[in-house]
Amino acid sequence: MTEQLDLTGSFTLPGTSMTLNRMGYGAMQLAGRDGGKLVWGPPRDVDEAIAVLQEAVASGVNHIDTADYYGPHVTNQIIRKALSPYPDDLVIVTKLGARRGQDGSWPHALSRQELIDGVHDNLRNLGVDVLDVVNLRVGGMMEPSEGSIEEPLSVLAELKRRGLVRHIGLSNVTPTQFSEARTVTDIVCVQNFYNLAQRSDDAFVDDLAARGIAYVPFFPLGGFSLLQSSALDRVAASLEATPMQVALAWLLQRSPNMLTIPGTSSVKHLRENLRAAALKLPPDAIATLNAIGERVQVARQSNQ
Ligand SMILES: NC(=O)c1ccc[n+]([C@@H]2O[C@H](COP(=O)([O-])OP(=O)(O)OC[C@H]3O[C@@H](n4cnc5c(N)ncnc54)[C@H](OP(=O)(O)O)[C@@H]3O)[C@@H](O)[C@H]2O)c1
Repeated sequence: MTEQLDLTGSFTLPGTSMTLNRMGYGAMQLAGRDGGKLVWGPPRDVDEAIAVLQEAVASGVNHIDTADYYGPHVTNQIIRKALSPYPDDLVIVTKLGARRGQDGSWPHALSRQELIDGVHDNLRNLGVDVLDVVNLRVGGMMEPSEGSIEEPLSVLAELKRRGLVRHIGLSNVTPTQFSEARTVTDIVCVQNFYNLAQRSDDAFVDDLAARGIAYVPFFPLGGFSLLQSSALDRVAASLEATPMQVALAWLLQRSPNMLTIPGTSSVKHLRENLRAAALKLPPDAIATLNAIGERVQVARQSNQ
């Protein structure tokens, strides 16, 4: 039987009736890979992918992050197969702004027509009439780059007015782009690269918390190269937890607007990750973990 877990309280997206448990699930790992093409084609084990989604929701997860360009299309189709008809409180957050090249690349798809097509691809593959939340994804693969986002965001705002999208978020953006975005439309969440070793967004996290806007870190466990640190291992051993659980617990304790979406293709890892919500890190553990990010930052600066 699936265990109902306390997923570290909830957070209501500003100006919405969407209350998300702070421990969510990121669906990117459900697509397969084809040689060097990551997040491409069907997974090796479709039944396991379906089981991961069903177990996540049965455990209390009501926030799933996805994109129609995962696969492409594959991840959304698996979500629909596993979970439709969807529970009333489930919020599926998708992204627009990229597409996939045949070589597995991730070029931008930010033209008016690409954004409109992207909304319809998501609606069709998820099997819904309206998308709960759509993040406009700009910037590079790992980090944002400055530049106006007014044009594509205005298209998304128009799709919201047309009733195809309920709420809008941003991904891979700078604080300047966030400020610009707020002059175009309401923003409910920001999704950027952040974890205990990647802390460039520290001030941004705090600013969004003060405004009541959710911050949703992608690559919370390090993404394609998992977090590795002897200090993290030591803290985990001292708390009888795993390093990945400690990394997630650190995020959840970092700020009340932090919503986590760890990705996994395995039920075993899903269960391990969800249990991180119950892990309380004592102050000395947090200090040790904070020092990891500080060391990474110093190393980066000395390499510049
Ligand atoms: N906005 C953007 O540009 C952007 C970019 C990247 C990702 N995202 C979103 O962020 C979500 C999370 O990112 P992510 O999945 O790429 O990275 P992640 O959550 O940091 O890490 C996923 C990796 O960790 C492994 N893993 C998960 N749980 C584990 C555990 N308990 N023990 C050991 N290994 C474990 C997974 O392998 P297994 O499958 O073997 O568990 C997978 O290789 C994605 O699903 C996606 O929705 C957004």
